[in-house]
Amino acid sequence: MINFEEIKNQFDKDIKETKEIEKLEIKYLGRNGVINDLLKKIKEIPQEQKKSYGQKVNELKTSIKRLIEVKRKELAGKKSEVFFDKTLPGKSYPKGSLHPITYTIEEIANIFQKIGFVRVSYPEVEWEYFAFEALNMPKDHPARDDFETFFINYPKDKKYGKIVLSPHTSSGQTREMKRVKEPPIRMINIAKCYRPNWDITHVPMFFQFEGLCVDHNINITHLKGTINYFVKNFFGKDREIRLRPCHFQFTEPSFEVDVSCKVCGGKGLLNNKKCKVCKSGWLELAGTGMVHPNVLKAGGIDPNQYSGWAFGFGPERCMMMKEEMKIDDIRILYNGDIRFLEQF
Ligand code: PHE
Repeated sequence: MINFEEIKNQFDKDIKETKEIEKLEIKYLGRNGVINDLLKKIKEIPQEQKKSYGQKVNELKTSIKRLIEVKRKELAGKKSEVFFDKTLPGKSYPKGSLHPITYTIEEIANIFQKIGFVRVSYPEVEWEYFAFEALNMPKDHPARDDFETFFINYPKDKKYGKIVLSPHTSSGQTREMKRVKEPPIRMINIAKCYRPNWDITHVPMFFQFEGLCVDHNINITHLKGTINYFVKNFFGKDREIRLRPCHFQFTEPSFEVDVSCKVCGGKGLLNNKKCKVCKSGWLELAGTGMVHPNVLKAGGIDPNQYSGWAFGFGPERCMMMKEEMKIDDIRILYNGDIRFLEQF
């Protein structure tokens, strides 16, 4: 005879002690568990007792099921009591942020968009023609070596030459002229540029932003006024600019743009000593000039009707020259050091 009471007592004992409710459930309610064994045994029970035997097994099963559910809840509650302390501060997961140069580029683009410049970007992988020839730099011109360009291993094109990683955003000048076809042109071209240099002021991949303005009667005063507007908006009202004669193949006349140093107030002296940051009161910022007639021609624009100016700045350099920035090595911007990037 089956002793139901003994089974029930054993179950009561097991459930009291158990910490692993699933194991207990398998032991009693699983396919080869105690209840199923009892059901299988029904064959051996004499006919007249089969009904009451079946009832007893069912009662036992229902009661075991119910008690297991109660215990399961109890254990779950205990677990959360142990692991959940609502007075502990929550875990905060690290939030990503934009790269500081991305912020800088947005700021620069906004400043120029306010005065009607259209933001564009042109290919990073560019034909030699747009990077040099169209900019008045014939094949044998020594200035072409100065750029120390990355050349791509690709068959040469008869008209456009080899493929290069664009060494400057000036490559976009004639592309923009061809796109717009008829001036006025007010372009701000922000794109990645590549030159094989690596030191505290150079990285092989960097950004430039190129301004280009072409219309009737455009002259140097428009150029100076625009750069002045940018410098005051980006660096602050008390900063001044100056144009210093220089040479570029694609502008004539050409200048370098200097911005007055914030540290010494443009005097070059700090406490009667040479200013360490600028040494002269001025910091070199960009190349600029009036667009060379040959460049206008290459862009399909008649230099007798139109004139223009162009400039090329590095946003990295601009950002590093902001008064609150204390970055003395450009490479920190691109070496992916999270301790640096987290500060932005
Ligand atoms: N492309 C020049 C450079 O990379 C800068 C420049 C742009 C100069 C436009 C004049 C006009 O150095």
